[in-house]
Amino acid sequence: MCGIVGYIGHRPAYEILIKGLHRLEYRGYDSAGVAMVGDKGDLNIYKTRGKVEDLERFCHAKDLDGNIGIAHTRWATHGEPNDVNAHPHLSHSGKLALVHNGTIENYNILKEALEQQGCKFKSDTDTEVLVQLIEYIKTTNNCTLIEAVREALKEVIGAYAIAVIDTNEPDTVIAARKSSPLVIGIGEDETFLASDATPIVDYTDKVVYLNDDEIAIIRRGEPLKIITTDNESAEIDIQTLKLSVSQLEKGGFPHFMLKEIYEQPRTIRDCVRGRIGNSGGKVTLSGVIEHSDKFLNAKRIIIVACGTSWHAGLIGKRLIEEATRIPVEVAYASEFRYSNPIVTPDDIVIAISQSGETADTLAAIQLAKEKGAFVYGVCNVVGSSIARATDSGTYIHVGPEIGVASTKAFTGQVTVLIMLAMAIAQIRKTMPKEEITKVAGYLRRLPDLIKQTLKLNDKIEHLSSIYTYVHNFLYLGRGYNYPSALEGALKLKEISYIHAEGYPAAEMKHGPIALIDRELPTVVIAPTDELHEKIISNIQQIKARGGSVIAVVTKGDTSIAEIADHTIEIPDVPECVSPVIVSIPLQLLAYHIAVKKGCNVDMPRNLAKSVTVE
Ligand code: G6P
Repeated sequence: MCGIVGYIGHRPAYEILIKGLHRLEYRGYDSAGVAMVGDKGDLNIYKTRGKVEDLERFCHAKDLDGNIGIAHTRWATHGEPNDVNAHPHLSHSGKLALVHNGTIENYNILKEALEQQGCKFKSDTDTEVLVQLIEYIKTTNNCTLIEAVREALKEVIGAYAIAVIDTNEPDTVIAARKSSPLVIGIGEDETFLASDATPIVDYTDKVVYLNDDEIAIIRRGEPLKIITTDNESAEIDIQTLKLSVSQLEKGGFPHFMLKEIYEQPRTIRDCVRGRIGNSGGKVTLSGVIEHSDKFLNAKRIIIVACGTSWHAGLIGKRLIEEATRIPVEVAYASEFRYSNPIVTPDDIVIAISQSGETADTLAAIQLAKEKGAFVYGVCNVVGSSIARATDSGTYIHVGPEIGVASTKAFTGQVTVLIMLAMAIAQIRKTMPKEEITKVAGYLRRLPDLIKQTLKLNDKIEHLSSIYTYVHNFLYLGRGYNYPSALEGALKLKEISYIHAEGYPAAEMKHGPIALIDRELPTVVIAPTDELHEKIISNIQQIKARGGSVIAVVTKGDTSIAEIADHTIEIPDVPECVSPVIVSIPLQLLAYHIAVKKGCNVDMPRNLAKSVTVE
């Protein structure tokens, strides 16, 4: 939530900042702003409600001088999205500018205290309190910017990644983090900073991930220095990025979401590469092998996640229980952290997160660690906070996901969870070798099976025009595909703003059936499996009440084709692999309906891709 960028070097800062903001727009797009220290030592600050392109229009023909600056794209928490609440925020004197990602929980108390000292506030944000506080400390203590920042951060309760500039120290950027991500890029005589590495990758592959309670002192012509909030010098661990610029572009597709849907044959190939042998059935996950004793002795597994990752977690529960007979619970990270959960050192907590930055998931991990559990991460973003906070884990390796609606990350997560279930089963000897070999064979074939499934695109696009303007949708599925129904409904509602509900098919008769009429289409996920006959009767119950049915069925299934209004035929795969295949048509259906409705599928309203606030 909220993206921040900073630059200090020899190039014009504005272009670098704007390009960086575009890359970070997935984090929020309620407003955007930039501040540069101009060549005359003045502050050029521009901010506006709306997207980064609105900011660019606003900046047209303005003084964009300066090769040091900070910038921000906002996902509003405190105060409505308007020009005044947009970042950067200025101090009382107008000499300090600050951008912030996170929330200052005690901002009200700090604000009252500062108001009593004569500070005047312009915005409704928690962030303005921080910049005013820094200036107040700087003036009262007659100290440097870095000392003032350090002192101010000691007063603050909450989460932050910040960058501050000061016209009195025009060759310095101070940045700090606690619970919100911040990456520093080290170039030749220039330094970059950003909420993730994507704005940096065009200029350097050398990065430093700032840790909690660290403050970076970035001065022109000097090497990077990092201290802690306790004023101790911190180690600088320079890492090499494995990210390419082409991964961050649309590559000829109209939207990132469609590009990411179409990338799935490759991303799943990358995800299983080196983990499934070319022949035979051995699954090799180093994170499991290195901690085999933990998996051998685990009494219980608790999966924590949010959003789409939570849906993957529900599939993971089924997979792991089935393969290993270890009881698995799945919790929303946001509920888990406040539920006084019973966690023991015999438990394994699996945290699933695409971004690796979700605040609730991170907090759930801390809690699980305090209670002595072994924490295993399933993340996409390499070097992310969650990847670093967990004891071990498996990356899904699907590359940067930029569309706000998760697609390739979901299929990557499910694929890793299938492999994880098999890898644990190997250690615990709970699954016959032949069965593992069979599933491994399907995992190897998944990229081709996805490719075949993507051929459904034209049919689904046509179907989407029939349902573009409906107001509600129901998604039903059973077993492994009950979570697929939840995920299909989530995809549709988040990008098309059509209300959609996912339900276990057999539960329909306990409530949702009351909604069925001609106006309510139902997507029924009905591949041929042991509950096939049951789901056919669910379809009949809908048809008997005048509802229309789009059924996702196994190729060649004629029984459902006779009763459903439309069928989408997917390849025949075993149940445990089917959620990966099923999700492809559901992603395409949501995408095409949203595009037909004229919605911004990559940046749906009110959403952000990386939720670093509670
Ligand atoms: C946000 C995103 C979702 C994502 C969820 C959890 O709501 O819009 O797509 O599933 O956060 O994010 P994570 O990065 O932890 O998977």
